[in-house]
Amino acid sequence: MNRTWWKEAVIYQIYPRSFMDSNGDGIGDLKGITGRLDYLKYLGIDVIWLSPVYKSPNDDNGYDISDYQAIMDEFGTMEDFDELLAKAHEKGIKIVMDLVVNHTSDEHPWFMESRKSKDNEYRDYYIWRDGKGEKTPPNNWGSCFGGSAWEYDETTDMYYLHLFSKKQPDLNWDNPEVRNQVFSMMTWWCEKGIDGFRMDVISMISKTREMPDGKINGLYGDYGPYCVHGPNVHSYLQEMNEKVLSKYDIMTVGETAGVTTELAKQYAGENTHELNMVFQFEHVEGDGKYGKWTDERIPLTTLKKTLSRWQTELYDKAWNSLFWNNHDQPRAVSRFGDDRTQYRAVSAKMLATCLHMMQGSPYIYQGEELGMTNYPFESPADFRDIESINAYREWCESGRVPHEIFWPCIIRKSRDNARTPMQWDDSPQAGFTTGTPWIPVNPNYSEINAKAETADPDSIFHYYKKLIALRKQNPVMVYGKYEPLLEESEDLFVYTRTLDDEKLLVVCNFTDKEVPFTIPGAFMGAPCLIANLENRYDKQNITLRPYEAFVLHCK
Ligand code: GLC
Ligand code: CA
Repeated sequence: MNRTWWKEAVIYQIYPRSFMDSNGDGIGDLKGITGRLDYLKYLGIDVIWLSPVYKSPNDDNGYDISDYQAIMDEFGTMEDFDELLAKAHEKGIKIVMDLVVNHTSDEHPWFMESRKSKDNEYRDYYIWRDGKGEKTPPNNWGSCFGGSAWEYDETTDMYYLHLFSKKQPDLNWDNPEVRNQVFSMMTWWCEKGIDGFRMDVISMISKTREMPDGKINGLYGDYGPYCVHGPNVHSYLQEMNEKVLSKYDIMTVGETAGVTTELAKQYAGENTHELNMVFQFEHVEGDGKYGKWTDERIPLTTLKKTLSRWQTELYDKAWNSLFWNNHDQPRAVSRFGDDRTQYRAVSAKMLATCLHMMQGSPYIYQGEELGMTNYPFESPADFRDIESINAYREWCESGRVPHEIFWPCIIRKSRDNARTPMQWDDSPQAGFTTGTPWIPVNPNYSEINAKAETADPDSIFHYYKKLIALRKQNPVMVYGKYEPLLEESEDLFVYTRTLDDEKLLVVCNFTDKEVPFTIPGAFMGAPCLIANLENRYDKQNITLRPYEAFVLHCK
């Protein structure tokens, strides 16, 4: 297996709107991030993945871009960006940009031209179709954010496709001019010196030409079979690789919802010349009762089966990305750990152990290193996210599911859980802003904040810092082969990693109960690399305490 810097890196995701506000307007910004680089350096991360900072009308918080080569007014200027990049590089931190090119904003000049007339030179930059008749869209596809995936446009009496909101029209990647525009924009950023791209819904860029109705799923038809991993997606990525990516020493990660291990080996194979790695979502999806909305937890055996399959099947063939949460997912400790009891910190450390000891590049989402939790939503008026707002309307206000039943589901999974401001200290608004934040701060900031945790050597923050440092000293954490143990256990997640004569044993108790465990003979007497509780691992039969996690290292 090739050894490369991005396999060894730990990546930290910043959602700029909620990270740090430098000018008191309640919105995080680039200067805010620059001012906090020392914090990230101290944590020890190698790479920042910056969620979109481009010019945008913010229908979907920057995932709707109106100018790829300009900075969103609220976030600052291109000079601020250059300063951030330069300062980050000075500290040895790389910056990976979010690349949102499945769609643009409807306020992008390309789309404003495209909608003007059927013979406009930009017409074919987007996907236009005739309706099926009076007020009937071309087919039954539903958009990810509710409603039809087609929007009627009066000027030319046709519909355009938008897999996300109607302010996010899909680009037509079959048009070579679109691809060239995107590639030259990417080159422009690479020449600026950025260190890579996280590619938004990149598995959706190629659509089938025929667009038949999809299987009904809820109110609308599923576009999946016609738009996800579409006919030309691999050839377009190979072309992108050849024309742009291969010319720079950058890292790439594709967001590829619905990806299987087979497909991942193509998207991110060691020799397929597409991407370095992909985000798969099997371990954070598929637990939904109403679409993606549910109040249930995924059983541990299912979670392990999924993650172990990714570990095993990609070994030596493609590279994994490891994550528990991001800006689209609820908080890890609330979802997989325990955020309501005295076990919050220990369960957050257990989750970190479990993830960072697997094979792949680990991603930390801002605030995860503090054990930040889901937000205590009280009413739908608390939502800021287009997805939650629309979902509440579509599932609940429509009368399909009663509020009492739907509410626990939507608050458990709302993307806004991840988007509340970063909790820096115990001053008003958690030190995020001197003004009024665009989304409320979680009231638990007085206990959970960076100032308190950096001062406490026993904190979640310091545990992450240690995990990151261990990765630098122990190649077995990066390159060791994964093997699952106790696969049937509903309580314990146990696996080994092996690199030449070195071995790690990773043991994680996912419950709030005491669980007996027998240390495998080969690890008897092996030193403990890291543990989230004080314990002795020198007897064979031990009792794990709630959420206990430890790693033994023998060589
Ligand atoms: C991706 C982003 C998400 C966004 C969507 C549309 O899934 O992560 O935040 O809403 O794409 O761009
Ligand atoms: Ca600001």
